[in-house]
Amino acid sequence: MTSHRASFREVMSQGDLVRVAGAHDAMGATLAQQAGFQAVWSSSLEVSASRCLPDASVLTMTEYLAAAANMQKAIDIPVVADVDTGYGNNLNVAHMVHEYEAAGITAVAIEDKLYPKVNSFAEVAQTLLPLTDFAQKIETAKNAQRGEDFYVIARTEALIDGLGVEEALKRCTAYADAGADAILIHSKKKDEGEIVEFLDGWDGRKPVVIVPTTYPQWSAAEATKHGVSVVIYANQGLRATVQALRTTFGTIYRDGTSLGVESEIAPVSDVFALQRLQDWLALEA
Ligand code: SPV
Ligand code: MG
Repeated sequence: MTSHRASFREVMSQGDLVRVAGAHDAMGATLAQQAGFQAVWSSSLEVSASRCLPDASVLTMTEYLAAAANMQKAIDIPVVADVDTGYGNNLNVAHMVHEYEAAGITAVAIEDKLYPKVNSFAEVAQTLLPLTDFAQKIETAKNAQRGEDFYVIARTEALIDGLGVEEALKRCTAYADAGADAILIHSKKKDEGEIVEFLDGWDGRKPVVIVPTTYPQWSAAEATKHGVSVVIYANQGLRATVQALRTTFGTIYRDGTSLGVESEIAPVSDVFALQRLQDWLALEA
């Protein structure tokens, strides 16, 4: 069986709002594709959490790449890889681009925090790299790509660091000038206020990506009206899994039987379908 595996640039060129779901493995990525999402976010939070490790530059580039590549192999929509800070300085960024591109990943998002970084929602210092240093990282990433298609998203954590909208706009302008294909503006506020202020001040020179984790009331439709091109639902799948496993395991252990959860959980036939078991068995037919 052959099918076309779209690059992220191809998906972006269609001009509609691109909705992206976070995942950490091939199963999650497949379910995101089946739900209709246009791309999958290989989330550093999800990948590290799936190993019960903190999202704090603890895992290595190789481990994040393996997770992203496993997802990409399973789906026809593109993976957008969250590559944190690029795993170090400019040398690491160039190496990262070579490796991700060679593995068939068509988009990466690099963030302007200091390496090692900690997840944006953690109550710790979220110190940023100087603007010019990060702009250089973006330039390095763009120069390192071999094909035309590779897509680099520059993510600013200026709002996460409490530096304000003006600083975020200044940084994103510099990152766009350095060659970024899109910019990602992240916020941990409970409402969309500062994101809207950012969008009102953005000149539209590059597409804008948002991650509405803490302001879920702001719908994709409203975001589009304000000029957003990509919405990432970064970790809802992981959080759904935590809740589902906790409830299911708890019930089975308490009841001494799985009877109480059978109607709530997927049948084994569903798992076989996700594994494409019939296609594989046909190889021996
Ligand atoms: C991730 O999903 O790993 C992200 C988004 O980078 S956030 O966790 O909101 O920082
Ligand atoms: Mg991350």
